[in-house]
Amino acid sequence: MRKKVTVVGCGMVGGTTAQRLAERGYADIVMVDVVEDLARGKALDLAEAAPIVGYDCRITGGTVPQDYAMTAGSDVVVFTSGAPRKPGMSRDDLLLVNQKIVEDNVREIARHSPDCVLLMVNNPLDAMAQLAYKTSGFPRQRVVGQAGVLDTARFRTFLAQELNVSVESVNAYVLGGHGDDMVPLTSYTTVGGVPVSKLLPHDRLEAIVERTRKGGQEIVDLLKTGSAFQAPSAAVAQMVDAVILDKKQILPCAAYLDGEYGIADLFCGVPVKLGAAGVEEIVQIDLSAEEQAALQRTASSVRELVKKMGL
Ligand code: LAC
Repeated sequence: MRKKVTVVGCGMVGGTTAQRLAERGYADIVMVDVVEDLARGKALDLAEAAPIVGYDCRITGGTVPQDYAMTAGSDVVVFTSGAPRKPGMSRDDLLLVNQKIVEDNVREIARHSPDCVLLMVNNPLDAMAQLAYKTSGFPRQRVVGQAGVLDTARFRTFLAQELNVSVESVNAYVLGGHGDDMVPLTSYTTVGGVPVSKLLPHDRLEAIVERTRKGGQEIVDLLKTGSAFQAPSAAVAQMVDAVILDKKQILPCAAYLDGEYGIADLFCGVPVKLGAAGVEEIVQIDLSAEEQAALQRTASSVRELVKKMGL
C-alpha cells in the first residue's frame, strides 16, 4: 500500500510542506484546514502541477472537522495549524491561542490514524509537542517536534555566509527548546572537519549564535505579515523523509525526555535517531557543564509553558 502523509493546517508552512512532500512522490498527501475549501483548493492546485513537475501521487484536500475521515490511516501527520507570529509577538505569546486548536486537531487525528507518527510544527513548539503527546496517548516514539533541524539550518547558513564556504561543509547542532534560549553547540560545530572555534574569533561566533537564536524573529520582522515558511517546511520534509524512508537519520528534534540529559517528563530538542518507528533512540552526546546548564535553562522555559497549559 502507498504511504500516506497528512498535513494539518494549510497556511504558508502547511502549503509549502505539502508541495515539498508531493515533489518527493513517495506518498499520497492529504491536506486539511479549518478554513472552508482552503485545503481543497491548495491540494487541487498542487495536483494540477504534477504533470508539469513530474510527480505522481494522489493529493487531496478537505475541511475539518467534517473531513477528518480523509486522513485515516496516515503514516505521518504534520501539524502546522494555529496562528503564526506577528511582529512584536514571541512564540510563547501563541500558547493559549494554539492550545485549543492543537488539542482538537490531535484528538481527531489520533482517532483516525492510531498508528501514525505525529510531527509537530506549531508554536510554541516544545510545549505543543508535549500537548500532542498527552492528548494522543501515543507512545513517546511517535510524537516528535521540528525545531532543531530548522535552527541548525539557520546556524549553518550564517556560518557558511560568514566563512564563505558551502553550507554543505558546515556541520552543527542546535539543541534545546525552540525559543530565544535555544542552545547552539559550538563545540560540535565543524567546518570541513575543523572546529569552528579555530576559524572564527569568539565575538563573531557569539554574534552568529545570537542571530540564530533570533532567526525566526528576523524573518517575522522582514515579512511583517507572517513568519518563516521556506526553511521550516524544508526541515519538516527532511524529518518526514527520515520516517517514510526509514533512514534512521540522526537529527536534532524535540523529543520526550524521560531522564535523558537530566530532564524528565518534558519535550526538549536533542539529537534523535529518526526512522519508521519515529524517535527510535535519544542519542546522548557529551555536553560541557556550560552547555548542560544552558539545556537545563531552556527546559525550564518549556516547563513553564507546559504548566501554563495546565498539563
Ligand atoms: C521560526 C518559527 C516558525 O522559527 O518558529 O521561523
